[in-house]
Amino acid sequence: MRVVIAGGHGKIALLLERLLTERGDQAVGLVRNPAQVADVQQAGAEAAVYDLEAASADDVAVLLSGADAVVFAAGAGAGSGAPRKDSVDRAASVLMADAAERAGVRRFVQVSAMGAGRPPRPGSDEVWAAYITAKTAAEADLRARDLDWTILRPGGLTDDPATGKIRLASPPIPRGTVPRADVAAVIAALLDHPDTRHQTLELVSGDSPVAAAMQSIS
Ligand SMILES: NC(=O)c1ccc[n+]([C@@H]2O[C@H](COP(=O)([O-])OP(=O)(O)OC[C@H]3O[C@@H](n4cnc5c(N)ncnc54)[C@H](OP(=O)(O)O)[C@@H]3O)[C@@H](O)[C@H]2O)c1
Repeated sequence: MRVVIAGGHGKIALLLERLLTERGDQAVGLVRNPAQVADVQQAGAEAAVYDLEAASADDVAVLLSGADAVVFAAGAGAGSGAPRKDSVDRAASVLMADAAERAGVRRFVQVSAMGAGRPPRPGSDEVWAAYITAKTAAEADLRARDLDWTILRPGGLTDDPATGKIRLASPPIPRGTVPRADVAAVIAALLDHPDTRHQTLELVSGDSPVAAAMQSIS
């Protein structure tokens, strides 16, 4: 399987690139900074340089041609302000979905976040509100498309080692945290289960092995 990952130098993306490579899939990591190419290659993936706040859908569609799946794992990240929540967390996902449609790539896994899907709580920090608004809009955009999408909303991310034990279910589930390594494993499993299309799933650490959790939602 050839999988193109937006946000290819992100923490989840690098873990996912390693997992996909180890199991014999072909990962392609999109980065905006050429200095990150070597790290992506080190993870076993091909790298392609695209700034998703500047590229056109036609440009990205050329890269997606022949791919089997797209994973949107980009994000403006901590320290960014409200405008970049919109230009990355929303608009770059829309761009990738446009490009996927143009290239005929049906499978699309979007990394969203718990908290998306409803308006930010009154009194929320302005940047948090912009983030949740952007993620909610990116989800809505994807749901409206004729693509085999799956929306994955992890809880708070940690850099702890993988536990392999998760709680994965339709919202709402109680808030919690989850290691990025487990998120990467769940994305890899979702790519193997196209029958999870058209589902929105929340993910935190839990008791179920990934394979069992996948069975329960497939
Ligand atoms: N933090 C949390 O607790 C939490 C919880 C739930 C969900 N999430 C979501 O999970 C996803 C992945 O998380 P993560 O920790 O792996 O993220 P991360 O390490 O911050 O990676 C995000 C990647 O997106 C890239 N990016 C930003 N702007 C870009 C652009 N214009 N063009 C191309 N790439 C661009 C960044 O590249 P640069 O290095 O060039 O900036 C970075 O490599 C994000 O969507 C995040 O919102 C986070």
